Amino acid sequence: MTYEEFQLLNEFISELIGVSFPAERGRLLESRLRPRVQALRLPRFMDYYFVLQYDIDSEAEHLMHAVTNNETYFFRETRQFEALFDEVIGDLKAEAVTPGTIRLLCAGCSSGEEPYTIRMFGEENPNPDGESMLQIDAIDIDLERLEAARTAEYGPNSLRSTSESQIQSYFSRSGSNRFKLLPHLQVGVRFSYGNILDLDTYPSRVSYDAIFCRNVLIYFSETALHRALDCFVSALRPGGLLFLGHSESIIGVTPRFEPVRLRKCIAYRKTSE
Ligand SMILES: C[S@@+](CC[C@H](N)C(=O)[O-])C[C@H]1O[C@@H](n2cnc3c(N)ncnc32)[C@H](O)[C@@H]1O
Repeated sequence: MTYEEFQLLNEFISELIGVSFPAERGRLLESRLRPRVQALRLPRFMDYYFVLQYDIDSEAEHLMHAVTNNETYFFRETRQFEALFDEVIGDLKAEAVTPGTIRLLCAGCSSGEEPYTIRMFGEENPNPDGESMLQIDAIDIDLERLEAARTAEYGPNSLRSTSESQIQSYFSRSGSNRFKLLPHLQVGVRFSYGNILDLDTYPSRVSYDAIFCRNVLIYFSETALHRALDCFVSALRPGGLLFLGHSESIIGVTPRFEPVRLRKCIAYRKTSE
């Protein structure tokens, strides 16, 4: 891949889905795209760029799968989930758009481990009136990962931070080293294609009480980060909260969110500006 090809493809990807490869990771982008260039029998990466430009045979779908990092697992960095259930759930519920239900968006959900973990936390922190308290919309651009999420069957990699007793409580064994999430834990979690940068692809027009977008924005260009935050502002109700991954911070990035220092993590509240 020449430097010019790298720049064109990198810009195209960043504009489409936000993900951006710094120049020193050009080889990584090349290795991710090479299988597509070969599968389409194209002589040069520049030809692949033209295919994408004209969206020939919906190549963008393959592109999204090729360039995204889908790493995830159950009970990954649980501080934000603990903060949600230990510290802010009462306030979120009191001001919820839909009385009695907290509406969450999980943006960049990969194969579902994150929204299902939130669902498990919900199971352990039930609503006093017995009604289900959580409605979780989970979106991703990678259709293969979404299919895996709907299947809800997982192996050891996904369960590497899940204790034996949690496996017993939440899964049934479905094969050698395969575990199927129990059906009642799939209720209230809806998966759909959605691009964080495109509000029209969000599954609901009703505002969310909180958004989880963890380990996604670190891969975005600065421009895409701002576009993503603008979309989150539009998708959150007034006073709604944004939770990011533990290595991600938007302090000082935009006046539309103010940091809220919780005991276990920082969340970002939508401001009224
Ligand atoms: C590293 S995984 C993080 C999964 C999960 N949030 C977690 O923390 O375990 C990043 C996910 O974000 C998705 N993603 C990247 N850009 C996206 C975009 N513009 N819209 C929606 N999903 C996106 C990728 O497909 C990938 O599944």
